[in-house]
Amino acid sequence: MNILHLDSSPLGTASVSRQITAAAARVLAGRAGGNAVVTYRDLAAEPLAHLGGELLRALRPAPGAPAPESAAVRAELALTEEVLAEFLAADAVVVGAPMYNFSVPTQLKAWIDRIAQAGRTFRYTAAGPEGLAGGKRVVVVSSRGGKLAGTPAEAAMDHQEAYLRAVFGFLGIADVAVIRAEGLGLGGEAREQAIADALAQSGELAASDA
Ligand SMILES: Cc1cc2nc3c(=O)[nH]c(=O)nc-3n(C[C@H](O)[C@H](O)[C@H](O)COP(=O)(O)O)c2cc1C
Repeated sequence: MNILHLDSSPLGTASVSRQITAAAARVLAGRAGGNAVVTYRDLAAEPLAHLGGELLRALRPAPGAPAPESAAVRAELALTEEVLAEFLAADAVVVGAPMYNFSVPTQLKAWIDRIAQAGRTFRYTAAGPEGLAGGKRVVVVSSRGGKLAGTPAEAAMDHQEAYLRAVFGFLGIADVAVIRAEGLGLGGEAREQAIADALAQSGELAASDA
């Protein structure tokens, strides 16, 4: 079983999502016994560059266009293939996803921009878009300073969990679970309880299906 473990918080050991993705990945690996192969990618420590014009043109070359001459662009293409291969090979993906300004950190968005590729992870058909990366399980670890779940503001302001569900759904992945630690900015007992609850939810992955 291949597990891809992604972190995107830049806050290192102070990060809550990192603590919880580590627990979730450990539990999933434990379930697989000796068969687990865990690939770790730290999107904050080694950020992927945002898509620029040169790279986009190289990723989607016009018919007959020559291969890019620039060594930098060729390196970016190779890195994109590496990131995509890790994603496609994974049976389970654990994604650390703090809420940043109602969405996800730019480091995580840059990863999504590399893996969402027409013809590789989705395609457009006459019947509409079709995801090509199904058959895997995604566990999103959501960390938030405020409390949004179940509030009247959620529909308008959650562009993090809802966005990630939409992205992975678009890529064909039906099995998306969210482990949430929110209200972390409230500090004290509320923060400790949110972390404990999220760690407990990670533990429940041991008994869950798939
Ligand atoms: C730049 C930035 C933007 C943030 N935006 C939000 C936000 O929109 N909503 C929210 O509830 N918390 C927000 N937070 C709080 C983080 O979601 C919270 O600190 C969380 O613990 C970060 O995850 P981490 O501990 O894994 O780094 C923000 C924090 C930072 C640094």
